[in-house]
Amino acid sequence: MSLFITLEGPDGGGKSTQARLLVEHLAARGLPALLTREPGGTPIGDQIRRTLMDLGNTGMYPRTEILLFSASRAQIVHEVIRPRLEAGAVVVCDRFYDSTLAYQGYGHGLDLTALRAITDFATGGLRPDLTFLIDLPAEDGLRRRRRGGQWNRLDAYDLAFHQRVRQGYFDLAAAEPDRWVTVDATRPVDAVQSEIRRVVEVRLERG
Ligand code: TMP
Repeated sequence: MSLFITLEGPDGGGKSTQARLLVEHLAARGLPALLTREPGGTPIGDQIRRTLMDLGNTGMYPRTEILLFSASRAQIVHEVIRPRLEAGAVVVCDRFYDSTLAYQGYGHGLDLTALRAITDFATGGLRPDLTFLIDLPAEDGLRRRRRGGQWNRLDAYDLAFHQRVRQGYFDLAAAEPDRWVTVDATRPVDAVQSEIRRVVEVRLERG
């Protein structure tokens, strides 16, 4: 069966680790899944990612930012995600369009209706089946990122920006409770992963 799972949340919550562990688990139970990430995940998307993350690009206008994220997304949907889902595969994506709504919408305060239209254009209307909000307070996440040496241009936005992003995720999750599952990422990696696996297993059993 095809299943499109996305992981979302503030920076530093360990989404990438959780996505990787989930894919390893699925492979071990005989269900190979494709792991990918946004922005990036294709050669063109990776070039766009470098521009977006470059600490030197301090002058980037928020509307430019959203169009670049959307360009990377259009490419990955076309090149990778849609073909795999059509072939009946499981796809696990580290961030998808909810990141645009949370960061550019709630974080920068750009109009959510316009963002949804741009996002739909980029994805052709593709929606995740299941989305995990890997949640932790913005301060904790930024502290972890700084410690891990992964600091990028978006991390460098002020704390209030990251707090708006987190609140945005709460709003998005509350608006679509059937799609979203919120997981407390202040716990150890294994505990977070066990919860994710439990939810995915139930979903797979349901078919
Ligand atoms: P990450 O891949 O390490 O999570 O970093 C990606 C950064 O880009 C992160 O700060 C979230 C941000 N982002 C947006 O602002 N909008 C988007 O649409 C996406 C996909 C990511």
